[in-house]
Amino acid sequence: ATERTLSIIKPDATKRNLTGKINAKFEEAGLRIVAQKRIHLTKAQAGIFYKVHAERPFYDELCEFMASAPVVVQVLEGEGAIAKNREVMGATNPADAAPGTIRAEFAESVGENSVHGSDAPETAAEEISFFFAGLEIVG
Ligand code: CMP
Repeated sequence: ATERTLSIIKPDATKRNLTGKINAKFEEAGLRIVAQKRIHLTKAQAGIFYKVHAERPFYDELCEFMASAPVVVQVLEGEGAIAKNREVMGATNPADAAPGTIRAEFAESVGENSVHGSDAPETAAEEISFFFAGLEIVG
């Protein structure tokens, strides 16, 4: 089925001017960018977005990092978009990411790993509505 997923191009990638190269990977995989904006999160906003990780030891570092520079938030649409996006991103830790994936090519570490993607339909819906109003998504 056609799905939508929330993607974030993280500070390590925007700082290195990788937005276009990462978007090319999505588009080559058949994912359509149906909404996109560049924003600079506050640490508090990052904390709300990543609230499921609040008890993890890396939570504070993660929120600091996500607020350290602009990010590009986007909605990707396509057949099986949630799984397809995770495939294109590669494993969370770039050391484990398959060759050709975004994280294998661009990520610097498990924390500074260039991209985020929703992991399931329920989280995709929640994450999309965190960043975008319905009228901003043009399929
Ligand atoms: P993401 O898909 O955005 O979801 C949660 C993020 O936490 C994850 O990608 C990583 O960037 C980050 N993360 C996971 N494990 C660690 C870790 N051990 N140290 C620092 N950050 C981590």
